[in-house]
Amino acid sequence: MTFRQRHLLGIEPLSPSEITCVLDLAESYVDLNRAVEKHGDALAGLTQVNMFFEASTRTQASFEIAGQRLGADVMNMAMQASSIKKGETLIDTALTLNAMHPDLLVVRHPHSGAVDLLAQKVTASVLNAGDGRHEHPTQALLDALTIRRAKGRLHRLTVAICGDIAHSRVARSNIWLLGKMESRIRLVGPPTLIPAGAADWGVEVCHDMAAGLADADVVMMLRLQRERMDGGFIPSEREYYHRYGLDAEKLGHAKDDAIVMHPGPMNRGVEIDGTIADDINRSVIQEQVEMGVAVRMAAMDLLARNLRAARAA
Ligand code: NCD
Repeated sequence: MTFRQRHLLGIEPLSPSEITCVLDLAESYVDLNRAVEKHGDALAGLTQVNMFFEASTRTQASFEIAGQRLGADVMNMAMQASSIKKGETLIDTALTLNAMHPDLLVVRHPHSGAVDLLAQKVTASVLNAGDGRHEHPTQALLDALTIRRAKGRLHRLTVAICGDIAHSRVARSNIWLLGKMESRIRLVGPPTLIPAGAADWGVEVCHDMAAGLADADVVMMLRLQRERMDGGFIPSEREYYHRYGLDAEKLGHAKDDAIVMHPGPMNRGVEIDGTIADDINRSVIQEQVEMGVAVRMAAMDLLARNLRAARAA
């Protein structure tokens, strides 16, 4: 088997063949998810614990459904109401949990690097569901599956990632993934929202939507992540929408068959016009959500195989 990881902490450590391995298995789960009976048994007997230290709607629901469809016992820890509030450290929480023998730990945390740290302390396989502005690997994998199904490939595409790159773990994971698969990446946004070192990441940087979207195959929009901003990064939402919000006129610079993506949650009228988001001929935003469940099933299945093999050895 080509997938050799014990944890899924980011896209950075994955090889192109490991990425392809997850996507190929996810394709079979897309079919299962569209069937009337949706149950598999790849995770039967295993315990999956979801620990979300940051609010989440679709990612948490998606991991929960994915685990249940594959027969895991799934538990959601209510982290907002937990001992964290009483001052327990992340590591103490992890060690307490570890003593209950979970097999898969799905973790979202506001601090970059917190999920890696936790993975070093537990015996379970850890999946990063988003850590600070660092990585969000299953989001990049579901985006890749969506692109591959729409465009038939992941190489030699021009992908414009637009908006708040500076605070986005989705952007970072996508840059890793699309770079490994040999697509061309353009980061588009105001200078205040593009990290200073971005030009060294093997990407093009544009501060203008017309140039940034020119001949793009994929236009990926990102939310302004205000919870991670400390200060004023944009003059006003109105001004931002005028310059960087995706509308029909700006999308006109991309290829005629370019697809529009957004990881959600979406702010209509800020980074994207609602009509574009709802246009079934251009927008694949709902398909991204559908692919999310399949990709998480595939990722947990592959990690569980490695976990079982390691325990049997
Ligand atoms: C993203 C996240 O949490 O990083 N959302 C998601 O997982 N669907 C993007 C965002 O919050 O803007």
